[in-house]
Amino acid sequence: MTSSKRILTVVGARPQFIKAAPLSKVLRARHTELLVHTGQHYDNGMSNVFFDELAIPAPDVNLGIGSGTHAEQLSAMLEPLERLMLEQRPDLILVYGDTNSTLAGALAAAKLNLPIAHVEAGLRSYNRAMPEEINRVLTDHVSRWLLCPTQEAVNNLAKEGIKEGVTVTGDIMVDAVLQNVDRARITSTVRAQCGLQPNQPYLLATIHRPANTDVPAHLTQIMQAFAALEYPVVFPVHPRTRKSLAALDLYTATHVRLIDPVGYLDMLALLDGAALVVTDSGGLQKEAYLLKRPCVTVRTETEWVETVSSGWNLLSEPTVESIRHAVQHMLTHVPAVHPDFYGDGTAAQQIVAALES
Ligand code: UD1
Ligand code: UDP
Repeated sequence: MTSSKRILTVVGARPQFIKAAPLSKVLRARHTELLVHTGQHYDNGMSNVFFDELAIPAPDVNLGIGSGTHAEQLSAMLEPLERLMLEQRPDLILVYGDTNSTLAGALAAAKLNLPIAHVEAGLRSYNRAMPEEINRVLTDHVSRWLLCPTQEAVNNLAKEGIKEGVTVTGDIMVDAVLQNVDRARITSTVRAQCGLQPNQPYLLATIHRPANTDVPAHLTQIMQAFAALEYPVVFPVHPRTRKSLAALDLYTATHVRLIDPVGYLDMLALLDGAALVVTDSGGLQKEAYLLKRPCVTVRTETEWVETVSSGWNLLSEPTVESIRHAVQHMLTHVPAVHPDFYGDGTAAQQIVAALES
């Protein structure tokens, strides 16, 4: 019987709430978790909705740091995180993914010599211009437990000389999808709210990477590409993107339905009904794969390389021609084979077992 640990978890952004939902449950069955929300995401639709829908325990502390530049966010997080870690003296710090909240949690802990567990360790885009790449590389290099979704992630770490404390646990997002997809199918009314008829083909789109939203020519071309597609496009708009769209005053065709960010159940329902996904989200690429929806990723590279090599995901330039071509290709070349790359939905148990070993 392993002794109960005191774990301080740091979350702050939408995908981290979704990942924390299945893991917190398993963790809390045997251990004590103090959940710290940095406040990086704060709109109701970017934060509270996930806590409510997924019954995530309310954060014990919300640092309320809000938006800002990378340095502003990191510096606003570090001091209160250090103070909390000193007060609470947890046995370990748990962080997820690759956001500024991840790096702040890891850095504060590393400086106090507290052991760090990194969920979703070992992912690499090999593009250092991407803020997330810096966050994930630095976090991996100070972590004691590197909890990898795939063998590919283990290989990436080995290339950087990280071999100790590395475990393949499967992907925690599989747990989240499997635990919620049936409920989403039964309860969500989002498709009707978007004016879609039952069985009407449509595409689901999300775009929020700075490389797309903060380069006017890219966002303009992406919106023009959506307008040129022959299907309705349901596009839950991230607040970063909403700001850029407003600044550019971009025309949108009526079949491109710009809606506010949706909760996880509505998102799964939209994904489940979609003929295809166009995105630059890390999580959505993988969820599309899990629900066997072909995907076009508007990026120059992806960390989720298996989705591309298996033929379920195609990378696209942010241009009208490239996106149209990729969408057309993926709609007509849906692979017959769907290998299991990401595990069986028991990542939470495997992560907790790794932390206890
Ligand atoms: C962050 C992560 C990114 C992740 C994404 C998930 C970093 C560096 N980036 O990007 O890896 O994919 O979250 O969604 O950590 N805003 C609001 N309300 C909110 C949150 C944000 O209006 O609740 C607006 C603000 O104008 C803010 C902008 O969105 O400046 C960007 O937010 P921020 O958290 O800095 O980065 P994301 O683009 O969300
Ligand atoms: N998501 C959601 N509502 C939305 C958009 C995304 O619930 O309006 C979910 C999506 O299904 C996935 C996660 O948020 O589980 C991905 O988050 P995001 O794209 O913001 O970040 P990334 O994965 O790119 O870091």
